Amino acid sequence: MKILGIETSCDETAVAVVDGEDRILANVIHSQVSVHRPYGGVVPELASRHHLQHIHSILDGALQEADVTLDDLDGIAVTAGPGLVGCLLVGLTFGKALAWAKDLPMVGMNHLEGHIRAAFLEHPVELPALFLVVSGGHTALYHVTAPRTFQRLAHTRDDAAGEAYDKVAKLLGLGYPGGPIIDRLVHGRPLGKVSFSIPRMSDGSMDFSFSGIKTGVLYHVREHGIEALEQAPSSAEEVPEEILDLLAGFQHTVVETLVSRTLRALKGREVRSVGLVGGVACNRQLRQRMTEACGQRGLPVHIPSPVLCADNAAMIASAGRLRLEAGERDPWTLGADPGWQI
Ligand code: KG4
Ligand code: ZN
Repeated sequence: MKILGIETSCDETAVAVVDGEDRILANVIHSQVSVHRPYGGVVPELASRHHLQHIHSILDGALQEADVTLDDLDGIAVTAGPGLVGCLLVGLTFGKALAWAKDLPMVGMNHLEGHIRAAFLEHPVELPALFLVVSGGHTALYHVTAPRTFQRLAHTRDDAAGEAYDKVAKLLGLGYPGGPIIDRLVHGRPLGKVSFSIPRMSDGSMDFSFSGIKTGVLYHVREHGIEALEQAPSSAEEVPEEILDLLAGFQHTVVETLVSRTLRALKGREVRSVGLVGGVACNRQLRQRMTEACGQRGLPVHIPSPVLCADNAAMIASAGRLRLEAGERDPWTLGADPGWQI
């Protein structure tokens, strides 16, 4: 079995081919970071236009890498939501057209289910599992009791963790996207004088909130008269100590919030392993702290390789394979669902 995956929900145009044993035969990802960098964030209209311009050549590249033709495929899985609607429509329409032309079954997949699926691509995952999905658009905890059965336990009430990284980096003139830049700048740096309190919900729920930490950074910048850099730094040596201290405090708070919520969600639940997925799961401090904290409780932690944490189409193809193997297919009338939650 060979499944084509298509992912265009945000600013990566991605096409992949996965086989019946979840082996990745091709995983081509075209990042639009350079397009959006001057604006410090994703510009939806530019993103959809770039998907449209590149998706044909990304498909060709993926077929070539997998050494297959369209005639060798058994089905198509395409992200149908959540995401930017114009971006989703490009991938979905492209997937439908291919499926129609080649008479293939097509399924529209949830992007968050795809992120969770990424953990299953490299290692078997012991179920039931607790999954933390942490990306630029989402921060949520799921109890995963079967490969396609999820119960959402908590989600963010405001910003996603990756969004907080990106906004803090923008405020300080560090460049875009902020997550990998801040990760690099504070890597190995001990916590300095700056720290923020871990946000708690007044109603006792496990939900996340990152806007308070972001505002805390803003107030600290104002109070201490810190000025944003005029040019994005290429190394930590180009960044004043007071900014590095601030970033270390910011990252520490974000990581500890994510880890402590995950540990809290373990209580009273049957959990045999923990999954950490999504773009922010590339963060080295988060990977290390989550592995340590869960390890102390005797739980294995599954964190995909960085290329499978960030947006990619292999995770969509693999998630779609489960539906296609069960004989499911979606109708040609399937629409994009920008707010689709699981
Ligand atoms: O999953 P993803 O590629 O796209 C979404 O579905 O949102 O995640 C992108 C997010 C961005 O906010 C980016 O800053 C963040 O993941 N990110 C990181 C790191 N690498 C990417 N955040 C913290 N540390 C990193 N190393
Ligand atoms: Zn994503």
